[in-house]
Amino acid sequence: MEKRNNKLNDLSGTEWIKFTKSWAVYDSEGNKVVNYNREDTRKIGFRSWFIHNPPSRESNKILHPASFPETMINEFILFFTKRGDWVLDPFLGSGSVLLSAFETGRNAIGIELSEYWANISKKRLEEARIQKKMDIYSGEAETKQIVIVGDSRNIDKIWAENKFPLVDFVITSPPYWNQLKRAWLRQKKRKEKGLPTEYSEDDKDLGNIDDYERFILEEKLIFDKVYEVTKDKGYLVIITNNIFTNKRLYPLAFDTLLTLSEKWCPKDEKLWLQDDKALLPLGIYNEWVGNRHHQYCLIFRKEEGKKGELRKEFEKRIRSLYLKLLSECNESKP
Ligand SMILES: C[S@@+](CC[C@H](N)C(=O)[O-])C[C@H]1O[C@@H](n2cnc3c(N)ncnc32)[C@H](O)[C@@H]1O
Repeated sequence: MEKRNNKLNDLSGTEWIKFTKSWAVYDSEGNKVVNYNREDTRKIGFRSWFIHNPPSRESNKILHPASFPETMINEFILFFTKRGDWVLDPFLGSGSVLLSAFETGRNAIGIELSEYWANISKKRLEEARIQKKMDIYSGEAETKQIVIVGDSRNIDKIWAENKFPLVDFVITSPPYWNQLKRAWLRQKKRKEKGLPTEYSEDDKDLGNIDDYERFILEEKLIFDKVYEVTKDKGYLVIITNNIFTNKRLYPLAFDTLLTLSEKWCPKDEKLWLQDDKALLPLGIYNEWVGNRHHQYCLIFRKEEGKKGELRKEFEKRIRSLYLKLLSECNESKP
């Protein structure tokens, strides 16, 4: 791309676009690492980031506008659970977590608001089960993967009605606020192919809440309930991101970490780096707009022993703000 009327710097178009990628790797000598399979970066301890360039998606999965790679979910499940344990995804989408649980020999429950996506999950599971029966080497212990069509706000009732056990591990990716409705540039290609660009038009869909603070609050209230159906010492991993919209960054991932910390003990974040996403000429020659090619995997743990300490800490920092929002939301309810 040629240089023209560049208001900010002297870079060429290609240089500009490359720099807006949200991550870059440098070794300790300051060299930019572009070949991630270098011998020295393959040694344990040297390569501490993880990059997922997932295999191309099967046709049913590609339908979902925001699915995550099973290869990545497999790694989390293998780390945080043992064979036969129970896994939960309260925002199931096209069913990646149930598929991973099936592949890794774990039981799992997925809750999905939209019947359409729930059916896609069921179909994908059926296909995987048929495929496995056809494999000569199959014969692993039977596990259950259960799809529930419902609102995660009612997780307490869903557990009571179905007499589900407490789960060992939760891994999920809630809607990224109302980002799908806004990400018109990335979604344009999907629209052209006739693929869905939103989860649903349901008012109960978290992705349809336009008010940012309200979204953060409703998300927190759901994970407060998820806490109650998780075993003590069980982990929760939330895959989410900060959101650039209206020419500024909304700290969705950071606010998720803060608000959940009243109950859940925050442990860490792991970065999912995406290296196979096209770089777009966002803000080119004009102003900084990043190409966000990473997502946050926030790691929490249920630690009943730390309950009081966590609440105290939370109250000190954000409870007063949260209570103000809660009363405002209640006032605005019809
Ligand atoms: C980011 S997507 C999850 C994608 C999933 N990880 C996958 O790989 O396909 C979020 C999902 O949450 C669902 N959802 C939104 N609000 C919900 C609610 N209140 N209860 C249950 N599911 C909800 C949406 O329909 C959407 O499919």
